[in-house]
Amino acid sequence: MSVSLAEAGVREYVASLGGGGDWRLVRAPGRVNLIGEHTDYNGLPVMPVALDRAVCAAFRPLTTPLVRLRGVEARFGPREFEVSDAIEPYSPGDWGNYAKAAVQALVRRFGKPRVGLEAVTDGDVPAGAGLSSSSALVVAVALAFAEVNDWEIPRVEMAELLAEGERYVGTQGGGMDQAVCLLAEAGSALEIEFFPTRATPHPVPPDVSVVVANSMVTAEKSAGARSSYNLRPTECRIACALLSGRLKREVSILADLLEVFPAEDAGGAALEIIGEGLWTTKRLADELGWPETQARQVLLRQKDGLALEEPPGGFQPARRVRHALTEALRVRGAADALDRGDAQEAGRLMRLSHASCRDDCQISCPELEALVRVIDESGAYGARLTGAGFGGCAVALAPSTELPGFLRKVQKGYYQGWLKENRPELARDVDKLPLGRYLFSPEPAAGASIAPL
Ligand code: GLA
Repeated sequence: MSVSLAEAGVREYVASLGGGGDWRLVRAPGRVNLIGEHTDYNGLPVMPVALDRAVCAAFRPLTTPLVRLRGVEARFGPREFEVSDAIEPYSPGDWGNYAKAAVQALVRRFGKPRVGLEAVTDGDVPAGAGLSSSSALVVAVALAFAEVNDWEIPRVEMAELLAEGERYVGTQGGGMDQAVCLLAEAGSALEIEFFPTRATPHPVPPDVSVVVANSMVTAEKSAGARSSYNLRPTECRIACALLSGRLKREVSILADLLEVFPAEDAGGAALEIIGEGLWTTKRLADELGWPETQARQVLLRQKDGLALEEPPGGFQPARRVRHALTEALRVRGAADALDRGDAQEAGRLMRLSHASCRDDCQISCPELEALVRVIDESGAYGARLTGAGFGGCAVALAPSTELPGFLRKVQKGYYQGWLKENRPELARDVDKLPLGRYLFSPEPAAGASIAPL
């Protein structure tokens, strides 16, 4: 395989330090999710693809229990912290928090480490684009830290440990990103189920290309987009409380509903039980027979202990449930379609997924709407927003034979057309970038790996 930009970056950097010694290299890929959005934390499936772009880290042990990190790029400045099982986070949004998340999760599982870690990182996964550069960093640091300490753990368990561990940064995410980063197989999309984690590869047909297009709206999950993201898992938690009460049985995650209703009916049934409409904290408290403070504490509490703020008008649990449960069906359908080599059907399901993400999950934005429309009109089998939403990328499946013409149409229609007209400042950002940074067709890659440098 050719050496990626990120790998070249860390090699050069280590050489400038004098090289030598026992440096090793870890590579942890970013991902693009083909279908299955905001389902994972509900115990419902996803189907991402690992990218041929990664976070790379050259690393070696340190004799003291410290982690010393630096990025090749100046904006990822040096970070150093002491290892313990209660590591104080940096301020929100600081890149060092992802390393702290990884190390703290491992230390809680394995106890005191024998050695520390020195690492130099670089990456060619665009940040803030919904391609999981942050989870790739968590995985890279975790694999490096486990390696220098001779800690062994099966990859599925590592994925679960890090999914929980990444909540350290304050997001209430599920397990998709860490699992695909660790378990992906080259050439395939990975259908992932949760609680417990199970992964099934579905080869992407050879005549079908995966395409990723950045809307250029940044959605930093650990910073600005954090509360919008966290609102969705919170609304699903609210839905579970309402369903538990009305069904008179424990619904701890939405996937539990599949024990009560056939999968095809679950979305509609849950919607009917909860009822459309908005739920204020007061209405929730009245329904559950709890004081309002209890409703706030139990249902709205976030990782930092504070309650999430009620959105204007109230929460929308019913729509979120319908999205998650119908999306689970679409993931199954798309996996079967890939197995049959039926890109038309996979594309159709991606379109339906996009509509549900927009209307029921409500995680789209005008830029993503324009981008997905242009991609659809440019001859894709199907396209949709991908990742947490509120910006970031769209993903599409397109016929490989038509790829160059297809990419030209998207370039013209969105970047040189809609974006220039409607968001000139974002179009100017595009002008500074090589095409392959914002519009590209990745080869579905294998999961993370470690090799001598
Ligand atoms: C983020 C989270 C994932 C998943 C997606 C939405 O990427 O990290 O766990 O919830 O959003 O599908």
